[in-house]
Amino acid sequence: MALLSMISLALLVFYFSVTLHEAQSEEFIFEGFINENERRILLDRASVLKPSGALRLTNKTKNAIGHGFYFKPIQMFSSTSPNATSFSTYFVFSIVPPASGQGGYGLAFAIAPTYQIAGAAAGHHLGLFNESNEGNKLNHIFAVEFDTVKGFNEPKDSNGNHVGININSMDSKTSRPAGYTDINNTQKEDEIDMHKGDPIQAWVDYNGVSKIVNVTIGPMWQQKPVKPLLQHSVDLTSVVKEIMYVGFSAATGDTPASSHYILGWSFSTTGAAPPLNLSRLPIPPADKDSSSFQFSLIALIVALCVVTVLLSGVLLFFKLYKRMRQFETLEDWELECPHRFRYRDLYTATKGFKDTEIIGVGGFGTVYKAVMPSTGNEVAVKKITRNSIQGLKEFVAEIESLGRLRHKNLVNLQGWCKKKNDLLLVYDYIPNGSLDSLLFHPKNDSVLSWEQRFNIVKGIAAGLMYLHEEWEQVVIHRDIKSSNVLIDAEMNGRLGDFGLARLYDHGINSHTTNVVGTIGYIAPELARTGKASTNSDVFAYGVLLLEVATGRRPIESGQFILVDWVMECQQMGRILDAVDSMLGSSYVEEDMKLVLELGLLCSHQRAEARPSIRQVTRYLNGDEKLPSVENWGSIDSSRLSEINARLMQLRSIEMTSTSYNSSSNRFMSTNSIDAGR
Ligand SMILES: *[C@@H]1O[C@H](CO)[C@@H](O)[C@H](O)[C@H]1NC(C)=O
Ligand SMILES: *[C@@H]1O[C@H](CO)[C@@H](O)[C@H](O)[C@H]1NC(C)=O
Ligand SMILES: *[C@@H]1O[C@H](CO)[C@@H](O)[C@H](O)[C@H]1NC(C)=O
Ligand SMILES: *[C@@H]1O[C@H](CO)[C@@H](O)[C@H](O)[C@H]1NC(C)=O
Ligand SMILES: *[C@@H]1O[C@H](CO)[C@@H](O)[C@H](O)[C@H]1NC(C)=O
Ligand SMILES: *[C@@H]1O[C@H](CO)[C@@H](O)[C@H](O)[C@H]1NC(C)=O
Repeated sequence: MALLSMISLALLVFYFSVTLHEAQSEEFIFEGFINENERRILLDRASVLKPSGALRLTNKTKNAIGHGFYFKPIQMFSSTSPNATSFSTYFVFSIVPPASGQGGYGLAFAIAPTYQIAGAAAGHHLGLFNESNEGNKLNHIFAVEFDTVKGFNEPKDSNGNHVGININSMDSKTSRPAGYTDINNTQKEDEIDMHKGDPIQAWVDYNGVSKIVNVTIGPMWQQKPVKPLLQHSVDLTSVVKEIMYVGFSAATGDTPASSHYILGWSFSTTGAAPPLNLSRLPIPPADKDSSSFQFSLIALIVALCVVTVLLSGVLLFFKLYKRMRQFETLEDWELECPHRFRYRDLYTATKGFKDTEIIGVGGFGTVYKAVMPSTGNEVAVKKITRNSIQGLKEFVAEIESLGRLRHKNLVNLQGWCKKKNDLLLVYDYIPNGSLDSLLFHPKNDSVLSWEQRFNIVKGIAAGLMYLHEEWEQVVIHRDIKSSNVLIDAEMNGRLGDFGLARLYDHGINSHTTNVVGTIGYIAPELARTGKASTNSDVFAYGVLLLEVATGRRPIESGQFILVDWVMECQQMGRILDAVDSMLGSSYVEEDMKLVLELGLLCSHQRAEARPSIRQVTRYLNGDEKLPSVENWGSIDSSRLSEINARLMQLRSIEMTSTSYNSSSNRFMSTNSIDAGR
């Protein structure tokens, strides 16, 4: 018996303690739903907590449902009190439509027996009810709906933007278009468009004694309006159960889906809901979910701008690319040539082929002084303009080998460059100009001394020897003459322009009647057959020797022929009469005689009678004595004159065509390459 009463007492104590515990009041506040708040909210279905701290109840899926309830159930009444618990709640929500005037359905503050409302339907039912349990008292659901789609009992002219109080049914007990009354004007209501994405404040206050529920909404940042939007009298004890969950439900429908957000929430059963510090709430989402019309418009404008900028960028790129292509149009074979220069570099180096940079105008083109931008080296750039250079590939192959020629008595060809129809040849820059100008137009009366002249011709012989005999291939210069001999800083002679003759080789080979060279330097057999050889180079070298010794041009005023004249002097036994008067008597007689006679021997009309360049070098160095004139073989000077006369005739014919360059007395055989195809 005692045991029984003890158990009864224990049960009684337990009962009261439980009752006391359950009667505990509840108060909470969410300013965003991140960090420690995450654990205090129960998510269901589509609802998620965004990193920003916003509680998003629905995703953009159609017919989505989302629930978010406070994790602890609330005691809505107790058996010890006949009246329901008073409560006050305050929250900020945001409904972001997919486009202006579209979207659905809405969200609701709900008091429900469970945080997972099973069987609830989406769309109009807002995830709270379904068709079959609509209006059923067993639902035990009290809700305040914030609906953006027209409900069942909405007047026809309503746009659906309404707030309603719902009990166990979507058929609202009372509802009104969303709006608020200004604190100073209690008569007129301002509408609040709930699906514009703007955050909206809402208050739901229930007094369990007066059994009245007030629903109030207002725009963000404004004070709570004094006059509630909705007021409804209801005894919640007949609706809800003793223990209930409080929270939110939202749903989308078949219409384009809005996103429903709760940004902050406070709740109290002991008085007014705690105020929210609005500046601490998450910003209503401007993420991808918020594809409002405005947003899409801005996105469209931004996209257009980006596309425009990109397009202009692409256009600019292609323009620059085209410009670069204009500078560098390369064929595959050109890429592998080590001696190829970039046109752009040469363009820069010559200051854009400026006239002030011209250092010479030769037979084949204009020569510019240039300073290479990368190395600072001085070079001479010869620009040859042709309308059409066929056979260029073969020519470049030759240039590539000629580019490997290196001798101190050669103006070394450093490289080449092709741009459209222009061919550019890059040579060493030689500061003192051509022998031609030093001999015939001496500056400041600085006449070349005999020592200098002798040194120069010896040097040219050495250079020619390298071309004819010492290099891996036989290089026939074809255009040896005083204007192609350049004088370097140490007054050494350097033979230049040898690469260029090759340009005409291809044409010459198939058109042997074309004569290449300069009048006065052309060997008789070359004039007849057009076939250049080392012998014809030696012939021209002989003329050069006579030029240097006599200070006279090979042909003067169409009548004077240097070779013939010196030969006459020789035959009269007065060869020294031919010596340049500018030298006076300041020369070594023996050397002078050697040079004059060697000049005559080299310019012998019969190719076989001429010495090789190796022999020439030996004679000049005194290693071997020059054979006396009696042993040279017959010299028919009249025949030599005849050939030169014939060339003069040729010249008058060629004067009418472009293939003769009158300024340099040189045949250029302009069309030889084209014709040679
Ligand atoms: C939306 O939520 C539902 C769950 O209710 C899920 O099945 C669906 O994949 C979600 N859609 C997106 C786009 O996240
Ligand atoms: C409606 O909801 C209830 C639970 O509230 C569930 O038992 C019922 O199956 C649902 N009906 C439909 C048609 O989904
Ligand atoms: C309400 O009226 C008072 C003075 O009558 C004024 O100072 C206040 O700005 C008004 N408030 C609003 C929201 O119009
Ligand atoms: C509801 O609003 C009225 C004023 O319209 C106010 O007198 C009453 O106290 C409010 N009730 C609650 C529970 O806030
Ligand atoms: C319950 O409500 C009635 C009025 O409906 C009131 O007279 C009574 O005092 C209330 N009881 C408590 C305990 O608040
Ligand atoms: C609201 O929050 C901001 C930022 O956290 C703070 O600076 C401000 O003092 C707060 N206001 C109140 C009234 O607590």
